[in-house]
Amino acid sequence: MKDLPASGPRHVAIIMDGNGRWAQALGRPRLYGHQAGAKRVREIVAACPELGVKYLTIFAFSTENWKRTQAEVSGLMTLFRRYITKEARELRDNGIRVRFIGDRIKLDDKLVQLMDELELMTADNDLVHLTVALNYGGRDEVARATKRLARDVKAGKLDPEAVNAETLARYLDTYVLPDPDLVIRTSGEARISNFLLWQSAYAEYEFIDTLWPDFTAEIFAGIIGNYGKRERRFGAVAG
Ligand code: FPP
Repeated sequence: MKDLPASGPRHVAIIMDGNGRWAQALGRPRLYGHQAGAKRVREIVAACPELGVKYLTIFAFSTENWKRTQAEVSGLMTLFRRYITKEARELRDNGIRVRFIGDRIKLDDKLVQLMDELELMTADNDLVHLTVALNYGGRDEVARATKRLARDVKAGKLDPEAVNAETLARYLDTYVLPDPDLVIRTSGEARISNFLLWQSAYAEYEFIDTLWPDFTAEIFAGIIGNYGKRERRFGAVAG
């Protein structure tokens, strides 16, 4: 492996957008775009070690995506089940630790079982930490965290006067992850759509026109290279 870029982002989060438009441009159904998008996930995960990206978090399904047609939602759920089944071994053997964030309550039992198994199977890996956001919404995550925190207060385990930002962060789905340094969104939309709202307070953002199924490892490497040229001040004055 090459030397890791010293100033690169350690945690990159990606909003993988544009699968539907990519498929429509080819006159194909939207699910064809999601399948092509799933193939890109593999390529981007594989590129991470050499780029020094230790944590990669991807937005696979939002709490708002249930509003899509029933056919698209069930097609996506089938795709997630197949993807996990097909890729599990390779992820494990390649040192990828997989985690899922989001509310599992609305997901079907079979899918949740596969998610649990994959997390367990890869729990000893440490090369790249891949986090898949599935039925995830930033506001929903903060609301669920607050509910758990309130329960601990009620049970006398937590002093309300001691609650600060760090306390709340410990109740988030992402409690074991560092905050993202860089958030990328594909397909030309400049929105964050409820993704990692709390965690991205100081993240850099990169909005690019490329549709997710066209997002290659080269494009990814270019963005990571550019990040090294940015100066992050976290609210302080330039040094
Ligand atoms: C956004 O494109 C994409 C999604 C809502 C689903 C993302 C899913 C994948 C990339 C599939 C594979 C993921 C994993 C983890 C296996 P869009 O449908 O919003 O596209 P549009 O904006 O052009 O309609």
